[in-house]
Amino acid sequence: MISPFIANLPKAELHMHLEGSLEPETLIKLAARNGIRLPYADAEAVQCAYQFDNLKSFLDLFYLGLTVLQKGSDFYEMTAAYFARAVRENVRHAEVFISPQAHLRRGIPIAVVIENVLAAIDDARARHGMTGGLIVGIQRQFDESDALAMIQLVKPWRDRIIGLGMGGPELDNPPSKFARAYDIARCDCGWHTMAHAGEEGGADYVRDALHTLKCERIDHGVRCEGDPDLMRELAERGVPLTVCPMSNCMLKVFPDMASHNIRRLHEAGLRITVNSDDPPYFGGYINENYAAIQTELGMSDGDLWQMARNSFTSAFISDDLRNRYLQDIERHRPSGLNQHGTFPIAG
Ligand code: ADE
Ligand code: ZN
Repeated sequence: MISPFIANLPKAELHMHLEGSLEPETLIKLAARNGIRLPYADAEAVQCAYQFDNLKSFLDLFYLGLTVLQKGSDFYEMTAAYFARAVRENVRHAEVFISPQAHLRRGIPIAVVIENVLAAIDDARARHGMTGGLIVGIQRQFDESDALAMIQLVKPWRDRIIGLGMGGPELDNPPSKFARAYDIARCDCGWHTMAHAGEEGGADYVRDALHTLKCERIDHGVRCEGDPDLMRELAERGVPLTVCPMSNCMLKVFPDMASHNIRRLHEAGLRITVNSDDPPYFGGYINENYAAIQTELGMSDGDLWQMARNSFTSAFISDDLRNRYLQDIERHRPSGLNQHGTFPIAG
């Protein structure tokens, strides 16, 4: 159940993979339209496949699913569908990932991918008043040379892309493998930087993303808890963690929601945000993620409000736009919650 407080709360989503937003019905529809053979007869069979042992077992399905994307209109429709859904959850701003290497390897021209995703993001602003940004994600299982080639190919759109990220199988693919790619992203392209780290990999991967790649945000990052000095640094520097609670449970990073550490990380003073990652695959969009941590971990409306506010302070947007969103969320501050995000102790 989504409470009215969560439903109405203005929020930004900062960790969502467009290819992971394809609903089972859309996968089946696009496969038929494009003559792609999937090992699933219908949407129900796709839904039944959403059972994962770990990150790899999910990624196998994620990479299979994205092969249904063939034409520019497929990329446009996928992006438009996510923004139309997100606006209904009171997401005011979304920064979304695309994995260009997966499409380039299938022979899809880069312009087909980028132009259509950007067009749908622009149209979402005109249609829904919702703002968005595009992040290109490196697939860490491939060599750095492959990532560098991808960055060169997307460079013509560098002013319309907000950042460089990194996903894929984390173990044995440490952030430092991509040090040159991140230097180019920062220095040549002027992009913001983030990387998936500390999802299955340990706190050392978070440290590597922060110090070697100089990432501004950490995607997941939940395993930072293994290193108290690192936690202190993350808190003191206000480095945002884009946490995806339902994803972490589905991929067995935690055995269940009651064991998730998001509450501890929030209470330790880290700048935590709540996100959906790959919503149909993990059983819920952003509001369901907020609801799950409230129900299972007893986080208060005040906690959720603070994390939604963090999503705006962590977004890569202009000061003007940020101030507008911060004014907006101020109107939803739970009564009694003071400026420090805590309720004054009674008596
Ligand atoms: N690609 C899509 N979702 C991902 C995740 N949760 N971790 C790593 N790579 C991904
Ligand atoms: Zn992710």
